[in-house]
Amino acid sequence: MQFKLKLTAAMAIAAVCGLSAAQDMVVKIGHVAPLSGPQAHYGKDNENGVRMAIEDLNAQGVTIGGKKAKFEIEAEDDAADPKQGTAAAQKLCDAKVAGVVGHLNSGTTIPASKVYHDCGIPHVTGAATNPALTKPAYDTTYRIIANDNALGSALALYAADQLHLKKVAIIDDRTAYGQGVAEVFAKTAKSKGMQVVDEQFTNDKATDFMAILTAIKAKNPDAIFYGGMDPQAGPMLRQMEQLGMDKVKYFGGDGICTAEIAKLSAGAKTLSNVICAEGGAAIAKMPGGTAWKAKYDAKYPGQFQVYSPYTYDATFVLVDAMKRAGSTDPKKYIPFLKKTNYKGVTSVIQFEPNGELKNAATTLYHYVDGKKTPL
Ligand code: ALA
Repeated sequence: MQFKLKLTAAMAIAAVCGLSAAQDMVVKIGHVAPLSGPQAHYGKDNENGVRMAIEDLNAQGVTIGGKKAKFEIEAEDDAADPKQGTAAAQKLCDAKVAGVVGHLNSGTTIPASKVYHDCGIPHVTGAATNPALTKPAYDTTYRIIANDNALGSALALYAADQLHLKKVAIIDDRTAYGQGVAEVFAKTAKSKGMQVVDEQFTNDKATDFMAILTAIKAKNPDAIFYGGMDPQAGPMLRQMEQLGMDKVKYFGGDGICTAEIAKLSAGAKTLSNVICAEGGAAIAKMPGGTAWKAKYDAKYPGQFQVYSPYTYDATFVLVDAMKRAGSTDPKKYIPFLKKTNYKGVTSVIQFEPNGELKNAATTLYHYVDGKKTPL
């Protein structure tokens, strides 16, 4: 009798376990950023944000439409290259991921957004800042940081109104991001009576800027604005020091506002002339910033750059919409994504009808003793 009872209990436990295993579902979240090439440090940081979110979600135990969800990352490398960006997007469409966090660069995100729109999978970027991304107002495209209209103009207003600078030279890397943010800066600077004394161009693979800096030096500007990323800005600061341009202020958007620029400028004093802007609040002022950053640093020592708090939140924003919709099917959860009201680490996230973040903050930074510090 007793033996029989034990067996029945064991069978009941087995049945329950079997049932719950059958109800678990795997939910794939795509992530795309440069994981190879000179911008890999940004991409790794972004991917860490998504991995940390997925670990936290799996630890919490999330139920979607009555089923226990197990989240997995599907990580792709676009090497900051527009063609590889669309190829990665197509791969994630084919893999039928539930949603995508990314991409990192405007140059990859803008063409990829069309691919996601065509396959009906939403993507949330925590890094791409060119305003053109949300022009088509796709219901599959969302951004959870401020765009370059905010960053470029905040920097130009600071140069004109706070520092009373008169003459600026502009350099950009001819990417969608670099060119776009430089145009916004130049337009606002001119509207404030500043003079653009020179415009020079480079690319996102270059490391020698001696020729363009020498041309700019001859025009004697108070400041240079650089539209581009830190693998160029770092060596450029070093070469400015070599050319004796150590009094020239150096402005740039979020792309140069990294921890890495301090390393890439290799001790150049010109790092202390940098003023850069980021499309969100300073970590210490984010609702959950300080605790989140301590956890990130413990998990990924020395890897923090700029955007990982945003890619962390972007993952939660997608999952929050799935939970409210009771479905991981993009067709069903996109209407809920549009109505997001999510208190994240970075801010309370709500979207404009075109997918831009409502009430986005902008913060200006400089470098004090090689450390990025809010102004
Ligand atoms: N904000 C940078 C871009 O849009 C990373 O490319």
